[in-house]
Amino acid sequence: MAEEIIVPKGLVNVIVDKTAIATTDGNGNLLYRGYKVVELVEKKSFEDAAYLIVNGRLPDQKEKDEFSYKIRSNFGVDAEARKVIEILKEKDLMRALRNIVSFYHYKHTQVDDLMLEMAAKFPEFISLSYRLSHGLEPLEPIEGTYSERFYHLITGKKDPLKAKYLGMLMTLYMEHEFNASTFALRVTASTLADPISSFTTALATLKGPLHGGANSEILDFFKNFNNTEEAVRYVDQQIAKGEKVMGFGHRIYKRLDPRAQFVKAKLKEIAPDSKILQIAEVVENRMWEKKSVPANLDFYAAIYMDILGISQDFYTPLFAASRVFGWIAHYKEQLADNRLIRPSSSYSGPLGLKL
Ligand code: ACO
Repeated sequence: MAEEIIVPKGLVNVIVDKTAIATTDGNGNLLYRGYKVVELVEKKSFEDAAYLIVNGRLPDQKEKDEFSYKIRSNFGVDAEARKVIEILKEKDLMRALRNIVSFYHYKHTQVDDLMLEMAAKFPEFISLSYRLSHGLEPLEPIEGTYSERFYHLITGKKDPLKAKYLGMLMTLYMEHEFNASTFALRVTASTLADPISSFTTALATLKGPLHGGANSEILDFFKNFNNTEEAVRYVDQQIAKGEKVMGFGHRIYKRLDPRAQFVKAKLKEIAPDSKILQIAEVVENRMWEKKSVPANLDFYAAIYMDILGISQDFYTPLFAASRVFGWIAHYKEQLADNRLIRPSSSYSGPLGLKL
């Protein structure tokens, strides 16, 4: 029998494979294909970042135009998917998205095109599910950048500036090496399952409140605070009960999540007088004082999306619509050098029972 290696629970600090897509450097910066993500967000569009993640380098103008066109031309919902959305009329948009994606059937066999086509459809899947489940008329997509079209589909408004801010957040959400949903996708891909099955796995994993689902729970507790004292009391109570405060802690960032700090700085620019932002900073300080856990991206992202006028229903689906570009890159990377991911376990059940 081969030598057994016992790894920590939750695979904490275990390196399971190589990746050239993203990493965190020694100074705590998140890098996409070697570039600091906080610089990419300031200087490049969502489409540039998505191209970089999927193809491994930044596009020139022609490549960017072609890539943007590909995404734009695949934006719509076809009759088959529309039927599913109409039958489901599902208000939980992550449940809706997971079901629609898993149902999807592609006729063509070009895997790269297929994945991009799928990713391009996420905004419309989300928008149409929301509108039909709330008895609203579907929105016709507008012309414009990916973020402008997406912002319109989830708010019904045309606002290029807010759409630009949305695109920045989506770039921050796009990729984070072997996070839970991406790792789950890689496990599925490693069995040589198709990309649709792999995306379905990833969506199901992202939905959980310890991962992508956290961002949709954060405003719930903020709504109950009238002042900073109430917020501090809430934090203290959660900690006394041994319960988690959503939007805090991270497997990789133990001192500072650079994405959260970026969003906080943007919030100070966009809404310097926001009461919720003031309370958030007090909560952040209290969490550090009490538990030494930092605010993660989801914490400030929830407040940011609220200030951009985005309904809470869209928070986790919006994360999914960003991360799907990372999932495409990981699907391709896994298959480029595949070996079935299949760990072993240490059995703790009974032995030798007699029937
Ligand atoms: N609230 C209170 N205490 C926390 C929190 C939190 N949110 N997160 C971590 N801690 C504490 C733990 O209680 C533990 O303390 P202890 O050593 O005294 O027992 C210590 O910090 C280590 O925490 P673990 O849960 O062991 O850390 P792990 O790396 O396994 O978990 C996770 C990371 C799941 C993100 C965790 O911090 C958590 O549950 N956070 C809340 C959910 C959340 O915000 N998820 C979003 C993640 S970011 C993203 O997906 C973009």
